Amino acid sequence: MNTSFAQDITKGLSAEKKHLSSKYFYDDNGSRIFQEIMQMPEYYLTDSEFEILSLQAKQIVEALKFDVSFNIIELGAGDGFKTFKLLEYLVSNTIAFNYVPIDISQEAITILSEKLQERLPELSIKPRVGDYFEILKEAAKNDVPSLLLFLGGNIGNYSEEKAIELLSLFNKNMKVNDKLLIGMDLKKNPITIHNAYYDHASITKRFNLNLLIRINREFDADFRIDDFDFYCHYDPSIGEVKSYIVSLKAQTVQIKDLDLTIKFDQNELIWTELSKKYSRPEIEVLAQKSNFTVIEHFLDCKYYFTDSLWEKLK
Ligand code: AVJ
Repeated sequence: MNTSFAQDITKGLSAEKKHLSSKYFYDDNGSRIFQEIMQMPEYYLTDSEFEILSLQAKQIVEALKFDVSFNIIELGAGDGFKTFKLLEYLVSNTIAFNYVPIDISQEAITILSEKLQERLPELSIKPRVGDYFEILKEAAKNDVPSLLLFLGGNIGNYSEEKAIELLSLFNKNMKVNDKLLIGMDLKKNPITIHNAYYDHASITKRFNLNLLIRINREFDADFRIDDFDFYCHYDPSIGEVKSYIVSLKAQTVQIKDLDLTIKFDQNELIWTELSKKYSRPEIEVLAQKSNFTVIEHFLDCKYYFTDSLWEKLK
């Protein structure tokens, strides 16, 4: 049994205000639904970041100011689709580097490595499966300069406090002069953000409800999926999208493997996800609080998203 998941379910569904973490969205089905989300026209984040890495690879690489061979370490590489353009630029300009994609999913890493080997045969790729920090610690031991990639806007799932904690950990495991390229979704017209999460085809709803299907399968629970709905809300004054599962009636759910009986009132919520949006000054404050300085923001032409290049402070 997946013990931290079990503990988080027990804790989250026994709380006064029920919650489950979005990090558990990504089982095999959830990862497939997320691929669908990235292809939705409303979900601008993926297109924006793809544009940045396609059109500004040269500027990004020049801003690194690395004069010897370096490592590109990608945290949570996933399918690596967006990173391809950056790698392609480097390979076709015969710049010396190793690509070190890290992911917790062996399957994702295998597929990514095979695809890259085929499309960029000259690429030196050293894939790693496992925990970010173990691998980062190792990388800090040698004196090869490193560029860390944390793309896709994944930092948006962390509260400010948790984000600073995570980024400070990255920082601790970096050498002076190493860089971090971090993808962050920017504050914009609230309707644009609302539509990216409240999509018409209800794919995001399926993405959320898949969490209940996953708990049914992995812990022998009896969530009746049709008795739950999805709601999300963007509050532009604080830049937060919050997503919820809604119980459509008063009901009781058994989670057999956890010896749990959960009671829901009608319209009771389970908070599932935070997707935080930033302004550029807020990003600079976040960088400072985790011991970085922002070298440059690389934005798409609509100013929807930034890949910001950070440097570890001395
Ligand atoms: C992968 C965390 C960037 O918050 O926008 C997409 C996940 N959730 N639609 C995001 C997600 C709902 C996504 N991140």
